Amino acid sequence: MASNKNLLILPGDGIGPEVMREVRRVVDWMDKRRAVTFDIDEDLVGGSAIDKHGVPLADETMDKAMEADAVLLGAVGGPQWDNLDFSIKPERGLLRLRKEMELFANLRPALCFDALVQASSLKPELVSGLDIMIVRELTGGVYFGEPRGIEDLGNGERRGINTQVYTTSEIRRVAEVAFDLARKRDSRVCSVEKANVMESGLLWREEVTKLHGEGFDDVELSHMYADNCSMQLVRTPKQFDVILTDNLFGDMLSDTAAMLTGSLGMLPSASLGATDETGRRKAMYEPVHGSAPDIAGENKANPLATILSFAMNLRYSFDMGDEADLIENGVNKVLASGKRTGDIMAAGCDIVSTEGMGDALLRALDEQAA
Ligand code: IPM
Ligand code: MG
Repeated sequence: MASNKNLLILPGDGIGPEVMREVRRVVDWMDKRRAVTFDIDEDLVGGSAIDKHGVPLADETMDKAMEADAVLLGAVGGPQWDNLDFSIKPERGLLRLRKEMELFANLRPALCFDALVQASSLKPELVSGLDIMIVRELTGGVYFGEPRGIEDLGNGERRGINTQVYTTSEIRRVAEVAFDLARKRDSRVCSVEKANVMESGLLWREEVTKLHGEGFDDVELSHMYADNCSMQLVRTPKQFDVILTDNLFGDMLSDTAAMLTGSLGMLPSASLGATDETGRRKAMYEPVHGSAPDIAGENKANPLATILSFAMNLRYSFDMGDEADLIENGVNKVLASGKRTGDIMAAGCDIVSTEGMGDALLRALDEQAA
């Protein structure tokens, strides 16, 4: 390979460091067995950064993220930082990375692994073979809209304000990602908003429809209100291929979609920016799950979502689809062999620790490479 890939790893808080430790072993495996070398730097984000620097993301770390070929993040947050001022909460570190790197397209696949069909809270026939891709807008909407804040009205009342706002270009660039992805899948996009009550939703629908007519009409486009979508996701989830939606609805719908697959502990995500003149695009990869402070440090957490995030990293940033396949097939094999962390445990399976799951995956990788 011509040049080393520059990877910034931000393990974060809670179970972040222990799941990331297993990813490091997979990275080492790639180094040794696939002769691809990564230049890895590791730094702090979230609560761990607050403890050291007083802020959830140091400027120096932000600079490194801007330079890296990809950022791999664990999870942020925990009860010890819950009462901090809003502006320095652990989550702000993550939001700053998304915003300053302009990672406007968040890809959240909800894939039901065959071996985990029984782990879903829905009937097996509803989720078996499920393969949805949620494309969530990530740098706009109510998460970042101005004005925002809490103001004192002076009469014993306070007012909390957030603003849902989208512009044409913000809608078009994320919709384009969704249409492009759909072409590599089942060629169907369902665009989700609340055009019935929100002007920003109406604009969303109009702009998506317009873009569709400007070169994407080979892709089937449908529209759905967000409340209906949340219901349809638990009624007949397999009706969806790509779901395109805004930041807040995407946050909620992706948690629902994730749980259809049995566990949040299984789901990776990619957050992508625009492609520049050199063909490079900023990117960050992270599991959909949070920092799970209740089990942090106990070697119980499921490392697969973070390992699968690394696979997405290989596929989308490093053009290493074969290596990504190796990891994804490895995960399938490990699950088929009955190894389970607590979150996906089922009768008749073997419970393993975080590290035990890492061991099993490395063995599966060895077997495939043999
Ligand atoms: C997610 C998370 C974040 C979000 C939090 C941690 C800020 O829930 O990535 O879905 O709300 O976007
Ligand atoms: Mg969320």
